[in-house]
Amino acid sequence: MWIAVIAGACIILIITILFLLRATTNGTSLPLFRGLRMRRWVEPRDTVTCQRIVDDMRRVCVESVGSVPTHPMLHGDMEALGKRIVMIIYHQEKPVMFNAILKVDGIVGYDVPIFYVGLVMVVNQMKRKGLQKITILNVLLLFLNYRITTFDLTDAGRSASGLRLANDYLDNPYPNYRKPDLTPSSEQVLVAKHVILKHKPDLGSSPAATLNVQSFVLENTLAEEKGGSAQLVNAIQDGRSKNDEINSFLKSRVGGMQNDALFCIGKARLISGILTLGKRFFERKRV
Ligand SMILES: CC(C)(COP(=O)(O)OP(=O)(O)OC[C@H]1O[C@@H](n2cnc3c(N)ncnc32)[C@H](O)[C@@H]1OP(=O)(O)O)[C@@H](O)C(=O)NCCC(=O)NCCS
Repeated sequence: MWIAVIAGACIILIITILFLLRATTNGTSLPLFRGLRMRRWVEPRDTVTCQRIVDDMRRVCVESVGSVPTHPMLHGDMEALGKRIVMIIYHQEKPVMFNAILKVDGIVGYDVPIFYVGLVMVVNQMKRKGLQKITILNVLLLFLNYRITTFDLTDAGRSASGLRLANDYLDNPYPNYRKPDLTPSSEQVLVAKHVILKHKPDLGSSPAATLNVQSFVLENTLAEEKGGSAQLVNAIQDGRSKNDEINSFLKSRVGGMQNDALFCIGKARLISGILTLGKRFFERKRV
């Protein structure tokens, strides 16, 4: 009797995991919370699907920052979109947020997969409601999709809340607002330089951008006259954290230069990610 019950439970669990694995890669509409629904695609290739994804992302951009940033994936470059893991959040069928993670090309002789958190956009009427944090789900699902337990996660931006998420959930994050005097490891410098060298257009970065290998400030990345995504300069205000220590840290690095962004890097590990999320949830801390 018990064996039958356990076997039945195992079968249901396996079917659920298989369903989730498929549904979170092929754009199935899945319920989240507060009436929000999510669609997610891993490295989409089909032309019709890609067109729909681009249309929805462009719509969110316009309602978030007034126009569409320079990223090639937002301008019909299907190859650029095919390197992305896109999550779009809908409210009453209308796209209200998206996050497009970039799978970074590998480095010869370096076996750890590298991802770039990429673009996060929330429409004006849904800002400051915690939607940016749904990117954590998009990142967590990478473990399942790529069957990996560790990867390097990188990002570049001007949002203090984005920096907080990177510092709270990644192992050995750099820069770290809790340790302002920290310096990056040689491995972190190698990966950061590689991401920037290989993927400037994918980052919405100006070709003239340069990385300061000590502070990890990506200088001139958003300069519009040099081809950068000027739409993102206001993230420092939009993504203000409730924790002023982080706001001050970000300002000290990029506050004076509106075209600069801060490059972040850290190790995403399945076990520590789940433990941190669980601990925060049970301690009723902000996720
Ligand atoms: C930056 C951006 C993605 C933030 O998205 P969001 O969903 O508004 O972010 P959140 O709601 O999670 O909140 C951001 C911060 O505001 C704080 N916040 C939320 N509600 C708040 C409120 N009512 N009052 C004050 N602060 C509040 C949050 O605490 C959070 O910081 P913290 O978690 O570190 O404390 C969004 O503003 C945006 O799309 N900007 C334009 C595009 C852009 O610049 N993207 C970033 C690319 S680098």
